[in-house]
Formats: sequence, C-alpha cells, structure tokens
Amino acid sequence: MNRHPVSTISDTLIAWYAPNRRDLPWRKTKDPYSIWVSEIILQQTRVAQGLGYYHRFLQAFPTVQSLAAAPLDDVMRVWQGLGYYTRARNMHAAAKQVVDEHGGTFPNAYEGLRSLRGVGDYTASAVGAFAFNIPRPAVDGNVYRIWSRIFGVFTPIDTAEGQKELYQIAVAQLDKKRSDIFNQAIMDFGGTLCTPKSPRCGSCPVADVCYAFRNSAVALLPAKSKKAKVANRYLAYLMVRHRGDTFIRRREGRDIWHSLYEFPLIETGGSTALKTLEKTPEWKELFGGVKPAVLHVSPRLKHLLSHQRLYVQFYILEVKTAPYFLSTNFIRVKADSMGEYPTSRLIDGYMAAEPVEKYFLQPKSG
Ligand code: ADE
Repeated sequence: MNRHPVSTISDTLIAWYAPNRRDLPWRKTKDPYSIWVSEIILQQTRVAQGLGYYHRFLQAFPTVQSLAAAPLDDVMRVWQGLGYYTRARNMHAAAKQVVDEHGGTFPNAYEGLRSLRGVGDYTASAVGAFAFNIPRPAVDGNVYRIWSRIFGVFTPIDTAEGQKELYQIAVAQLDKKRSDIFNQAIMDFGGTLCTPKSPRCGSCPVADVCYAFRNSAVALLPAKSKKAKVANRYLAYLMVRHRGDTFIRRREGRDIWHSLYEFPLIETGGSTALKTLEKTPEWKELFGGVKPAVLHVSPRLKHLLSHQRLYVQFYILEVKTAPYFLSTNFIRVKADSMGEYPTSRLIDGYMAAEPVEKYFLQPKSG
C-alpha cells in the first residue's frame, strides 16, 4: 500500500533532483530561444551527443533573428549528422515566424509556442515550463513510462486511451508553482533512474510508493499493445524459510491473481536463474544485506493462462535472520498451513506435487 499520499510524489522527485541534477547548459538560462534549440536537438539525440550540437548551434545562430536571417544551407550544415533534417527546416521556418509574426520576440504563452513550426504539445509545454514556468507537464515516452510504473497503469502506451490516462496523471502530479523544476526533475528521473531497461530502483526515492516496484512489475511496464497479446512472463517464487516458517502476501493491483496469496515474487524480462535474480532491485529489497542459503530449486515450469505463457521457477531459500523487509511486508506462516490461504492454481499445483514440507519441518541437515 502507498504509505504517503500520492500528492507528495512530485515533492519527493524535486527533492531528489536538487542534489542529483545533471549540470546542463540549457538549465542555466531562461532564454526561450536557447531552450527551444535544446529541446528540438534533444528530441533527435541523447544528452551526451546533444551538448556539442547545442553549443555549435548557438554559436552559429546566437539569436532567433540570426537563425531567421541565415541561409537554410547554413542551418543544415550545423544540423548535419543529427538526422531527420525536417526538424532543421522546421526550426528555420519557426525562427522566421517569430521574426515576422511575433516582432522577433519568442512567444511567452503556450498557444503562441504551439503555433510555431515543428512545435507540438511536448515542446510547447517544455519550453513554456522552462522559460516561463507555464504550468503544463511535458509528456513524452519517458513520462508515460514513469507514471505507468508508479501508478500501475497497464493500459498500453501505444494507444490513445493509455496516453490519455497517463496525460491526466501527469497533469494531476504536476507541481503547478514549480513547473520548470518539476519537468526537469522528471526528465532526469526518467533519464538516469527510471530507465527503460534495468531501472535503478535501489536508488529510487519513490520506490516505496511505486506500484511496479512493489508488485514486481517493473519489467512489465509500460505496457505495449503489441506485446500484450502473446505475453511470455518469467517468474521466480521464493519460499524463504526462517526458523521453519515462510512468508506470503496477498497480491494487489490489476494483474493476474488479484487477491490471492503468494510467496515473494521476482519477475524478470527472461531468465529466472539465481544469478539474474540476485541482481534485481526486488532481490536487494527483499534480502537487504542477508545472503540466503539455497535449499532447493525447481525445474522451470510452464504454466498457461488464457493470454499469457508463464515460465516459473520455485526457490526454497533459508535465512538465519529474518530480513526487515520480509518481516514487515509479508505474513509469516507455517509452510503446512498454506492451505488456509487462497492461492493460484500454479502455487496449489506446485505445493501438491513437490514435498516442500521436508525443507521446512525438518532441521536442515549438514
Ligand atoms: N531531454 C529533453 N529535454 C531535456 C532537458 N531539458 N534536460 C535533459 N534531458 C532532456
């Protein structure tokens, strides 16, 4: 369960951003022209490569007037190597618009920014937020990923419905008084912690309220409609023995097996081998510094649901001291009293087939 009201997520992200922010030149200016240049370049390339282009572009065209007055060929030469040359042509056209239609002054409202060539909702919101603190979230794929994970939105992000749902979340989470810092914080958060692959959940300031992290669904979110149809999923259930007891909890959220009880679960993008599990943020949270002994590992089991193919391994592990996270987030039960709790057909079947009690009821030999 979320321990904090959701309204504090933006405060937490802003507090994380202050000491962790990347020192980037477009963050040191309020000049809408320079900020717009940076945003268009960063739609085309990553920050590391974008930095050089940003400096070269502003050196060649320090003002919107100089860009508007330059021959298109000069603009293309500076852009060369970035690809997608329509962006450069649009920038040139937008600069002319600013000079011809706005008296050479960059528009300072959302609608004015949005009317410029090549400027969509994302760019208008980003430039508006950074230059003028206009209270709008700049929403791109990074932002869909972040909010779908934190709030457990499984609606595919490549559908209008998913995008609308996540846009509404982004609007609700926006810190309207600090739109500039909030949007920069989100960009750094998505760029350095909540990354598409191998997010650094161990360092994440909002992991404790993140649906995906708390439900081992980080690898599943954001959901895409193309993948969702034939989902292969890779699950490792950890039966952790401590003094003959084990730990279970009730599943929550909008996924399979809602409200059923289960062992600590780690879901991965592919392998359920121990060495893969040990590297996951979920493992680190479950065990902290405690290294469990491995008593038994099941073969990889295939379990079919109507729209999902599950590959599952059960691990029986033992710890001498109960890790804090397990003690506080799970229910401690006797292994032979699992029958009192509703569980999935998968867990029922495994417990019926595998005499796991022997690992729990007898003292460990040797
Ligand atoms: N990507 C797009 N805009 C960005 C910005 N202002 N800072 C860092 N990364 C970005």
